[in-house]
Formats: sequence, structure tokens, C-alpha cells
Amino acid sequence: MNILDIIAKKRDGKALNKEEIEYFINSYTKSEITDYQAAALIMAIYINGMTDEEIANLTLAMAHSGEILDLSKFGQNVIDKHSTGGVGDKVSIVLLPIIASLGIPVAKMSGRGLGFTGGTADKLESIPGYNTNIDINKFIQNVENIGISMITQTSNLAPADKKIYALRDTISCVESIPLIASSIMSKKIAAGANKIVLDVTVGKGAFMKTKEDAILLSKQMIRIGKLTNRETVCILTNMDEPVGYAVGNSLEIIESIRFLKGDMPEDLKKVVLELGSYMIKLSGKGNDIEENKNKILENIKNGKAYEKFLELVKNQGGDISYIENIEKFKKAKEIIPVYAIEEGYIKQINAQDIGRFACDLGAGRIKKEDEIEKEVGVVLNKKVSDKVKKGDILAYIHSNKNIKEDEYNKFLNIFKICKEKPNIQDVIIDVIY
Ligand code: URA
Repeated sequence: MNILDIIAKKRDGKALNKEEIEYFINSYTKSEITDYQAAALIMAIYINGMTDEEIANLTLAMAHSGEILDLSKFGQNVIDKHSTGGVGDKVSIVLLPIIASLGIPVAKMSGRGLGFTGGTADKLESIPGYNTNIDINKFIQNVENIGISMITQTSNLAPADKKIYALRDTISCVESIPLIASSIMSKKIAAGANKIVLDVTVGKGAFMKTKEDAILLSKQMIRIGKLTNRETVCILTNMDEPVGYAVGNSLEIIESIRFLKGDMPEDLKKVVLELGSYMIKLSGKGNDIEENKNKILENIKNGKAYEKFLELVKNQGGDISYIENIEKFKKAKEIIPVYAIEEGYIKQINAQDIGRFACDLGAGRIKKEDEIEKEVGVVLNKKVSDKVKKGDILAYIHSNKNIKEDEYNKFLNIFKICKEKPNIQDVIIDVIY
């Protein structure tokens, strides 16, 4: 087999067969194909698309490019959850301890942030001592002992996806439905899940900018799930504005701790309840979605979810005195309030712009090797549809560097204010399965 023929075939809009896809994935993983050849093929896929069969073959080839975790000892229903990415997305950090507190095993591998979207592993590491890099045996042992472990993806989890994702990022080929669908599903399959709940984000701070595209992506992932025997539910959630109030690593951990203690921002609460109730359903522990939501609320109210989070942090080597006293988290050098200069209602807080601003402060990475400043970011004080008066605080910028006037104004401009109260889009847009 020859990579030039494979590139030419896809360039000419023809479907690749299983052997050709496997050849490409295996050879590229072993660096036997150059980045420019892989880039040409990825671009051809981006432009010409793929059939369902090609997408399923690509997914499985990427999943099998590294080790496949065997979690069958945790029962027939091993549930995983994944988000297509967003700003201020701390859903896994609050939801998974809740799920574990309901007796459903959670073995979660999370990614790191890149660009304007954050990553759960980076956020967890802002808890001093928390180790996201434990080996697989210890990871599984943790789940056996306390019902939950949350770590970063091991280097051997779908390594082909890692290489291809990094390549896509450098050649403007991220926003492609076949490539996103196969990337996400390959990691879920490799991580040992057989039931998958996907948070498919839609809007200004998401890869899918429209509901129509999010539905196409969801249906594609559900079809991959069917072809590979993994029951998959997609929850479409709005990502026009950030989720909750905090954006930035330790700032989001602090918001998560407050959430688990009952102080729940409305949009984050809705996402957690919806995703969580489907996770409970897929685990076989309750078919009634509304009842499942009550189970979640009950475990927040009675403190079991918070206790499980403490247990998780302790078990991963984290210092729980930070969780018990959030004042201990290191603060940014400056906390700058940003004031409204006109009266009205908040019409828009573009999540991508907030994410980019937080990234420029040091909360995220432009390049993979960049160091993150855990304590910097943004904490909103107002959300879309809130009423504001001139002089009200819209948000706080947590920064280690001096914020110049033009940066302050750039940030202020992210907030669009109008005279009439805007209609707000419900954060739960649709559920597809
Ligand atoms: N998240 C992923 O894991 N892969 C993509 O391609 C996009 C979002």
C-alpha cells in the first residue's frame, strides 16, 4: 500500500476502505508517514467528507492505535462523559463526584486545555498536590477503592488521535464533523466506556456554531456508537456565554467547590442535572430522568457529593485543606473590577472572546508546551439577560500583569448591552439518542 495513492483517492472524492484507513493510522502513529502527507490527507477528508463506514473505520483504527482499557470489572455498564469543549466548562469536576456518590463507578481521563478552551486535567492540577499522572493500575485501583478517579489521558490512549488532533490544529482542520466525531469516539472507546454521554456544545464558544451542525455531529457520533456497540446519548448545550461565572483554572475549582456545597449557578446546574440524569439512566440505575435529577439534588443537599469530591482529591494526593478553605488558593496579583458604562440588559457575553482573553492572561496555552498560570482568569458578575446600571460591576479580571487601558476596553467591549430584555436561549437545547 502507498500513502500517495491513498491521498489521491481521497483528493478525488472517493471512499477509503478499512485497510487503507488502518494503513494510514498505523503508519502515521509510527511516524512512517510525514506530517505533510498526513496534512494533505486530513485536508482532503476535511473538504470531501467521509462515509459512515469510513468514519467508523477511522474511529476504530485510532482507538486501537494504543492500549484499550478494560473496565469490565466495573460491570456491564461502564459510563463515560465527554464535552466537545467550551469556556468555563467545569461540568466534569462537579458532575463526576456526584455520579460516584450515587454508587456509579467513575474512571475518567480528561484532556488539557488548548487555545480558548480549558481542560479538566489542568483545572484539577490547580489543587496543590493533586496528581493527574498516576499509572493505569493505580487508576483502576482508585476506582475500586473509592468509586472514582480522575486523571489526564495517558500517552498511550489513542495516540493516533493525539497526533492528528495536533496536526489539525496547525492546518485549520479542527471544525470537521467526521474528524471531531472520530476523535472523540476513539478516545471514549479506548478509555473503556460502553455507554457514553456527550455534551455537544453549540454557539459562539463552541466548535459547532449552529444547532444544525451540532445535530449533524451528534447523529454522527450516535451512528459510530451503534456501529461499535456503544450506546451514546448527546445533550446539546448552549455555549454562547461561558458556563457559570468563573473562567480560569483555580477560579473554576473554587466555583465547583461552591457548587458542590449548594451554591449552584443556574446554567451550570441545568447542564449537570441533564447530563447526570442520562448517566444514571445509562448505568441502569434509574429510567426516570426527572427522578434522576432529584437524586442528584439530594446528594448535593445531604453533602454526599461534596464528601466524594474531598475523598477524590485526597486519594489523588491533593491537599484537602484548600477545598475546606477556598481562601487558601493563591490569588492573582491584581483583581480588577470592570464597570458598565451604560444601563440596560446584557445581550451577549461572547464565550470565545472571554476564553481568548483568559488565555492571553495566562489561563490557557497557545502552544502545547506553554505553562499555565493557575490563578488568573475572569469571574463574571453578570450573565446574559441580567439588568445593569451604569457603574455596576460586570466582571473581575484576575491578572498577574498590569492591565492596560486598551486591554480593559477590549474586555469591556465583550459585554453587549441593549435596552430591551433579551430572550434567553435555554442552556439545554436538545437531547438526541
Ligand atoms: N474534542 C476532541 O476530543 N476532538 C476534537 O476533534 C474536537 C473536540
